[in-house]
Amino acid sequence: QPGVSNPFDPFSMVSAEMGVLAKHIAQLIGSGHPVLNRVASYYFEAEGKNVRPLIVLLLSKALAKIPDEERTRIIIDQYDVNDQPEFKGTPKAFSFAGANPLQSITPLKILHGINPNIILNPLSRPMIDQDAYVTLDKKNGILPKQRRLAEITEMIHTASLLHDDVIDFADSRRGRDSGNIAFSNKMAILAGDFLLGRASVSLGRLRNSEVVELMSTAIANLVEGEFMQLKNTVLQPDTKSIDNDGQSKKIPEPTGKVPVKVHEYSVNPLNTISHQDNVNAAFEYYLHKTYLKTASLMSKSSRSTAILAGCNENIIENCYQFGRNLGLCFQIVDDMLDYTTTAELLGKPAGADLKLGLATAPVLYAWKEKPELGPLIARKFSQPGDVEIAKTTVDVTKGVEKTRELAEQYRNDALKNLRHLPDSDARSALELLTNSVLTRSK
Ligand code: FPP
Ligand code: MG
Ligand code: MG
Repeated sequence: QPGVSNPFDPFSMVSAEMGVLAKHIAQLIGSGHPVLNRVASYYFEAEGKNVRPLIVLLLSKALAKIPDEERTRIIIDQYDVNDQPEFKGTPKAFSFAGANPLQSITPLKILHGINPNIILNPLSRPMIDQDAYVTLDKKNGILPKQRRLAEITEMIHTASLLHDDVIDFADSRRGRDSGNIAFSNKMAILAGDFLLGRASVSLGRLRNSEVVELMSTAIANLVEGEFMQLKNTVLQPDTKSIDNDGQSKKIPEPTGKVPVKVHEYSVNPLNTISHQDNVNAAFEYYLHKTYLKTASLMSKSSRSTAILAGCNENIIENCYQFGRNLGLCFQIVDDMLDYTTTAELLGKPAGADLKLGLATAPVLYAWKEKPELGPLIARKFSQPGDVEIAKTTVDVTKGVEKTRELAEQYRNDALKNLRHLPDSDARSALELLTNSVLTRSK
């Protein structure tokens, strides 16, 4: 029973913050349109795994254990200006307790979230975002900006799920109708866009251009990753769209007037390169796609978490690698579960990838053993019987076993990354989270 007896249970360690996170997100996504409100909040109502905000919050906590001397950025110890009489009524002009601001911050006394420029240029009257003055919760070491980053990350992820379920013709998510089914494709897409817009507003308010750049790149990466796995025809001829009048409509086939060439697996059974080279190229493609569609958001939000904490470059890079390895492990497990479990247990469609024409790790490993699977992969399992043959081939080969081993490698690498952080309860919780990504059943 998770969360009951283990003191390092990732969720219990930041359960208060997770409660606040849900409340803040609800505030951030309010609009003047009641139906938009319903669609935009729909996926937040059902219980998700919350992996991404957990990573950001626990990493924040773990990074708080790093001594100030080891941070390269000037972040000054945080206190609530409203509790400090000298700051009352002057939120825009920052003044230090000492006469000389430079003296009072050496050695690196760190004020989280304040523009370092004010340190470099102490004589100019600094303009400080009101947001910078927020109390650091000394008890848990999580900075207000890191909390907001956790919210932003979850909002971006949820936006991508709304879009993903349209693209994947999904009918369920989190144990109930998916957004496209409950509302319509159009509304699901618009609500996703709306969430992205509001996430961007919140991102801008962090007043950290490096973090804005990273998180915006993550959004672009999600789309790139999704594009890499689109079918060549882009739309299946029998594609049905459920519209907001509840009618099922046939989407016109692409006219072919605009040649659409989506990059494909370099699978060509007739070419001259060896089977092994073909398999390797397909894996490279698969892993790159996986990085873009899943690991990028986790790695870039982890990197941003460290940037906001003023960590040195080594720690920043290490956090990035942690997010990358954990993200790759997460999606590879996701691709494995698509083969090994049921829709009922997952709360979303199972066995969906082959039907969508997708060759993920289990079938790629099966192909490595059975080269005759090549033509089926190349035609994206589009002929009658292809899906069944591929499934059976995965069953009779080491497809699933090898996939688990691959996920395990990334899990191990992620655990190694964590070893670079100071020992703490939060680090132990992150280790537990990392292990549970591998062993999860949904
Ligand atoms: C789930 O994968 C989907 C993703 C990890 C990313 C989806 C990204 C887009 C649809 C691009 C649009 C992006 C934004 C930012 C709006 P999956 O389909 O393999 O997993 P599932 O089983 O949970 O559906
Ligand atoms: Mg999907
Ligand atoms: Mg998808």
